[in-house]
Amino acid sequence: MQIHETIASLRAARADAGRVALVPTMGNLHAGHIALMTKAREHADQVIATIFVNRLQFRPGEDFDSYPRTFAADCEKLAAAGVEHLFAPDESQMYPQPQSYHIEPPPEQAGILDGEFRPGHFRGVATVVMKLFQIARPDVALFGKKDYQQLMVICNMVREFNLAIDIVGGETVRAADGLALSSRNGYLSAAERAEAPRLYGVIADLVTKVRGGARNYAELEQIAMQLLRLNGWMPDYVALRKKLDLQLPSAHDSGLVVLAAARLGSTRLIDNLEV
Ligand code: PAJ
Repeated sequence: MQIHETIASLRAARADAGRVALVPTMGNLHAGHIALMTKAREHADQVIATIFVNRLQFRPGEDFDSYPRTFAADCEKLAAAGVEHLFAPDESQMYPQPQSYHIEPPPEQAGILDGEFRPGHFRGVATVVMKLFQIARPDVALFGKKDYQQLMVICNMVREFNLAIDIVGGETVRAADGLALSSRNGYLSAAERAEAPRLYGVIADLVTKVRGGARNYAELEQIAMQLLRLNGWMPDYVALRKKLDLQLPSAHDSGLVVLAAARLGSTRLIDNLEV
């Protein structure tokens, strides 16, 4: 695997790489990331992974400084997965001067759900992803459904800016007890880790009820949040939404997804499940 620390180096390698798949990450790689690398291989001649902890998408007080940085282990995992190129720039490559132009996703998409609780987050994500797209010029790019709203924002950005990039979503990879793999799981204490699968349990239960014909969505959301609270969580939201645009469904809408975000101690976890 070639490791590129500069834009110039990656661009030179990309020039004769054929059909290229891009898999952006912030590192601290787990089986969810690696599943995206493996899927990327099905869509391209060469896979470019990126590792860059993007300051722009973190709010003051969030975990930018403490975000786990495990570069050597990440490189081993990527090489074992057969990834050809890793782009691992530092901040002076990506932001040689403070970024003053931004991609501003519309509030209907980026101001709801996670965007409501992390204002500016999706602007930071969209801006860095647009930069990575311009740098790597991929034919296809892969993102996980674990970050469902992020995937939607990127799909819409690509469509509205007419980017010639196919966006492919990857299924969420989970631990055996249901907990969605996440770099932030590493922040959990042993007791919190034992409790953490409840987030998945609660949304899976909600999905079962909706599949069974329940349509009292607001009530179901409240019950789910209450159950989390009773078990020591501080939920930001549990929400049934339309898959396509994450807007509120009416009773006859199909194609739904349940999304949830909640804090357990000081760790904020998100998860979702399609109905
Ligand atoms: P990061 O959290 O490192 O995730 C990188 C990619 O892995 C994202 O597309 C995410 O949805 C996917 N992913 C994370 N956990 C997963 C799981 N359990 N199963 C399947 N896929 C999973 O998301 C980001 O980084 C950043 O916002 C980024 C897009 C790189 C922009 O900075």
